[in-house]
Amino acid sequence: MDQLLLKMSEAKAYIESKLTVKPDIGLILGSGLGVMAEEIESPIKIKYSEIPHFPVSTVEGHEGQFVVGKLNGKNVIAMQGRFHYYEGYTMQEVTFPVRVLKALGVKHLILTNAAGGTNESFSGGTLMLITDQINIMGVNPLIGKNESELGPRFPDASSIYSPEFNAQILDEAKALNIDLKQGVYFYFTGPAYETPAEVRLAKMLGGDAVGMSTAPEALVAAHMGMKVTGISCITNMAAGIQKTALNHQEVVEVANRVQSTFIKLVNRIIEIA
Ligand code: HPA
Repeated sequence: MDQLLLKMSEAKAYIESKLTVKPDIGLILGSGLGVMAEEIESPIKIKYSEIPHFPVSTVEGHEGQFVVGKLNGKNVIAMQGRFHYYEGYTMQEVTFPVRVLKALGVKHLILTNAAGGTNESFSGGTLMLITDQINIMGVNPLIGKNESELGPRFPDASSIYSPEFNAQILDEAKALNIDLKQGVYFYFTGPAYETPAEVRLAKMLGGDAVGMSTAPEALVAAHMGMKVTGISCITNMAAGIQKTALNHQEVVEVANRVQSTFIKLVNRIIEIA
């Protein structure tokens, strides 16, 4: 068996040995949004550090564990903490958990993140439904040998984020009185926040938000035929638009501030998924 497939199956076997249910929905929780996992009923927690072949998360505000259980009647596996390219992992390592989620039987992946707003109609605390993404960083998680068992060499990327499901989410948000914006997520590797010139570039190229996660995971999920949903919590306006200096503490504070609205929205998304 090829290395990736072997690693996936060993990680899957370990996780399955701890579970009593088969998860259908995957949830990756971004900076300051990890508390959502506390909503999960009769949770089973599995630390990434216990799982064969898993990298270990290092970033502040990320817990580094799976939380598995029921949320709104659905079997959910949440990632409290994720891996980022800026931590020094390869793109294959960053997206390995998504491969494992697929191996576990997850059909729908919900990705969340904190991001900087480049669309000037946004402000700190805005929630943005991701419609599409831009990754021109020169790093792509699908570079390298393709496992045709997982997906095609040249996967279609014309609708990574299900447009049909997105339309449903927008209706549900309206019904919940949540002002959910839509936009394109522009990926930067980080770890430095963008310069104002980079933010102008992202904006000019069609980005509504800038961030350091999500895009690689979404592409890998789409490669394997998973349904993908993405929500950005705009924790700050991007550099140059926001006049004050950017910092991680502000990101976490703002994400915490909108937590209850975010949880309400994600709960409903899971309900209709
Ligand atoms: N840029 C990149 N990532 C981010 C930002 C930002 O402004 N805010 C939160 N995550």
